[in-house]
Amino acid sequence: MIHFQLNGQPRSVAATPDTSVLELLRETLGQVGTKEGCASGDCGACTVAVGDVNDTGKMHYHSANACIMPAHQLQGRSLVTVEGLADGDNLHPAQSAMVTCHASQCGFCTPGIVMSLFTLHEAQPETLTPLTPERLEAALGGNLCRCTGYRPIRDAALSMADHPAPRYAWWHNVSAPELAAHIDSTSADEHFVQPTTLAALLAARKRYPEAPLVAGGTDLWLNVTQNLKRYERVIDVTRVDELLGIEAATLDDGRKGWWIGAAVTYTRLMPLLDERFPGFAHLLHRLGSAQIRNRGTLGGNIANASPIGDTPPVLLALEARLWLAGPEGKRELALDEFLLTTKRPSCARTK
Ligand SMILES: Cc1cc2nc3c(=O)[nH]c(=O)nc-3n(C[C@H](O)[C@H](O)[C@H](O)COP(=O)(O)OP(=O)(O)OC[C@H]3O[C@@H](n4cnc5c(N)ncnc54)[C@H](O)[C@@H]3O)c2cc1C
Ligand code: FES
Ligand code: FES
Repeated sequence: MIHFQLNGQPRSVAATPDTSVLELLRETLGQVGTKEGCASGDCGACTVAVGDVNDTGKMHYHSANACIMPAHQLQGRSLVTVEGLADGDNLHPAQSAMVTCHASQCGFCTPGIVMSLFTLHEAQPETLTPLTPERLEAALGGNLCRCTGYRPIRDAALSMADHPAPRYAWWHNVSAPELAAHIDSTSADEHFVQPTTLAALLAARKRYPEAPLVAGGTDLWLNVTQNLKRYERVIDVTRVDELLGIEAATLDDGRKGWWIGAAVTYTRLMPLLDERFPGFAHLLHRLGSAQIRNRGTLGGNIANASPIGDTPPVLLALEARLWLAGPEGKRELALDEFLLTTKRPSCARTK
């Protein structure tokens, strides 16, 4: 059972482990405002906003592609869709700006664009950074429009601040304790296993060796939507405490570096890279789209061992090392020893 909040209302819904957020919305909950275009994370028609409670106890929303996000990862989270923004006739600034600028034609892409603009608008007071054309393009780079053209959409984004703020921004008042209570129940599901410690993850791996690991799902979920693969059981790594850290470290040979948890998303990694590795940061700004960077992880990119993965070449040049853990033990090894050949990473057995 998935316990989450949809547009401010508590929901408890049963779903198979390979259900996507988009399927849950459209097929189970009858919420059809969120559209399916490509079902592969490319077009942005399915963009939704996913909210977590941040370190200061406030809700923080990020954009995500509902088509390739596992529905069970909504557990204990707040989901905002295009249906949740307007308060009667009072539109959210993202919506009224789109109307004023004539930024919608057939309208198929519009809910996704509105949701990307919503996350941009709602992040503004937190970051206090001006809405530059670069930020705007980064936020909208994952939303394709076939008919209107991008100028009116861009104009809408740049003019959101001219529209009245929402009278009742309910999405910031979601009850954090209520959501947190559901996170505690994550370990109960035997089909979408969500361990919160490395020990529990290794135990799940041992118990269910056939179950794939999922982090952001931005590679793995394409097996479901494009190859029609069904998974009876999935193990989620995104709540494992040990995989979420970013720590300064000194290696045995005295070299200094950073240990980055495999479940750290690109968006979370970006401030460190901006400060310490600007060349790498420059590359990441071009990886996928905001929706993909908000969910995709370094661990997923490495474990995928794809020849077109963007981070392995940089990490190889930086002589990155990996800490691997599995049911048979733990070991540390160089990334070039881990990547055996196309799509074949080394497994986590002890030496
Ligand atoms: C529209 C789109 C655009 C993209 N653009 C780019 C791009 O520009 N550059 C690029 O490099 N990639 C791109 N990707 C691919 C993808 O986003 C990245 O590879 C991303 O880093 C995968 O991370 P993830 O957390 O989503 O992995 P997942 O999809 O969750 O997992 C990927 C693989 O890694 C395994 N895995 C995940 N976490 C772990 C772990 N902790 N330990 C062991 N195995 C693990 C999974 O079992 C799976 O086999 C794109 C994907 C999409 C859909
Ligand atoms: S439907 Fe195209 S990104 Fe999800
Ligand atoms: S308005 Fe038709 S696809 Fe954008």
